[in-house]
Amino acid sequence: MRTLNAAIIGCGAIHICHVDALRQTPNVVLRAVVDIDCDKGTALAALYGCDFYQDYQQMLCDEAIDVVHICTPHYLHKPMILAALAAGKQVFCEKPVAMNMSEVEEIKQAENRAIGRVGVCYQNRLNPTSLALRQLLDVGTLGRVLSISAQLTWCRTPSYYTNSAWRGRYATEGGSLLINQAIHTLDLLQWLGGGVSRLKGVVDCSLLDKTIDNEDTAMAAFEFTDGARGLFYACNNHTRDVPLQLEVHCEHGRWQLQDNSLWRITDSQRVLVTSDEASDGSNKSYWGMGHIQAVRQFYDAIRDGGHAPYIGINDAAQSLKLVETIYRSSQLRQWITLTQ
Ligand SMILES: NC(=O)c1ccc[n+]([C@@H]2O[C@H](COP(=O)([O-])OP(=O)(O)OC[C@H]3O[C@@H](n4cnc5c(N)ncnc54)[C@H](O)[C@@H]3O)[C@@H](O)[C@H]2O)c1
Repeated sequence: MRTLNAAIIGCGAIHICHVDALRQTPNVVLRAVVDIDCDKGTALAALYGCDFYQDYQQMLCDEAIDVVHICTPHYLHKPMILAALAAGKQVFCEKPVAMNMSEVEEIKQAENRAIGRVGVCYQNRLNPTSLALRQLLDVGTLGRVLSISAQLTWCRTPSYYTNSAWRGRYATEGGSLLINQAIHTLDLLQWLGGGVSRLKGVVDCSLLDKTIDNEDTAMAAFEFTDGARGLFYACNNHTRDVPLQLEVHCEHGRWQLQDNSLWRITDSQRVLVTSDEASDGSNKSYWGMGHIQAVRQFYDAIRDGGHAPYIGINDAAQSLKLVETIYRSSQLRQWITLTQ
């Protein structure tokens, strides 16, 4: 099996998850890291035993690099994806793949012309609980789905925003809670619910209003394409990071995701289906531990000529479309029908 060489652009908070995932993916080598912060990048390159570039365009000229991981602020995703595709690279980008749907269209067109594919990091779909729930819903064990509700209550302090100046600014983050943290929840909702046909949503900023341009709170009601109902609430101003709480109400009972465990609840029983546990037996981090699976899945797809499943641009666009539609619905104060 040919070794694939990877480079990571952006050595901030999330990059270590990519480093760990690359270390645990067979026949993959981290060949370079890139960051505009020269001191940080040089120190990390020495630690990882790889090259350092301050300018990502220079890294893209290295023909030995096959796959580029994009772990930078949101406003840089589209230009970096386009440049990497034009240089003939495969691209694995952190969520959100872009700032809005018009950028997504540009990326799709570039991907159509390119050899490389674009994979997007929605690692929570690959949690054991998510995979089990999706399979149980596909089989219809508890009958037809009547509603799916999701609640995400996390804590982002003012220093989280002030430590990385791009966060909390519309021009660089493209929104806030919805496009950054809750986009994972929206992705799971639409992935489990089979697509949203219309929604009505509201966003607001309360406790973080002195710190960020955008929302720290959002809620929405959805109608899924098969008629089921969706209910969504998220905030970034709680006092701790509570693991996602999600409930699927079906004709003959409900599936409940709570504290990273999936339960089947009927009139007579509450039965544990599965839990997300790290390999050392500890409970998973509140934001998921699926980076290893997501990275491996993308590298498998590269080796397989794009036939093996991975989360690509069209998949990634679904949650971004929901983000954009909730913002618009909140402005207009009305239901919005989504075009598929
Ligand atoms: N999948 C997840 O659960 C998850 C979790 C956290 C963050 N993220 C995503 O990861 C991305 C990065 O977030 P973060 O929290 O690590 O941000 P961060 O601010 O901690 O790090 C960003 C890094 O990019 C570098 N950078 C900025 N401009 C650059 C440029 N032109 N060239 C090279 N490097 C540049 C910065 O110096 C910094 O080191 C975002 O898209 C975010 O939404 C995903």
